[in-house]
Amino acid sequence: MALREIKIQGDPVLTKECRPVEKMTPRLELLIEDMLDTMYDANGVGLAAPQVGVLRRIVVIDVGEGPIVMINPEILETSGEQTGSEGCLSVPGKAGTVTRPNYVKAKALNENMEEFIIEGEELLARAICHELDHLDGHMYTELVEGPLQDVEYDDEEEE
Ligand code: NI
Repeated sequence: MALREIKIQGDPVLTKECRPVEKMTPRLELLIEDMLDTMYDANGVGLAAPQVGVLRRIVVIDVGEGPIVMINPEILETSGEQTGSEGCLSVPGKAGTVTRPNYVKAKALNENMEEFIIEGEELLARAICHELDHLDGHMYTELVEGPLQDVEYDDEEEE
């Protein structure tokens, strides 16, 4: 298990556009393993590669149903709306209210570079939107309605 340092808001790496992955390499396999370890260690439900300083289009998500690895992900369809609390491992100790689609259908490659389709509702839909935004240099704080709140519990789900 190897943990990587999570970049904090203000680090310019979090504002950049990430490059697609063209082929899987041992280095990227290790990155994905480390991203999962880092996400679980931090009690997050998602983590994007730029959050560990790597500008590649890779995210990992686990909303409690097992790990999902998404490489070069693209949203195909969204519907509905949900408004709720959202946090980010790159904005520690904070949360804010964000409106997202309630349903998301996306395609991505898995760690074997095989395409798959994923559909998610509620927290999974929120996590997919949140993590994919990171790949284009965007943070949830740009979407927050009202002020950021201080989070008192360190086991709060964060993305
Ligand atoms: Ni985040």
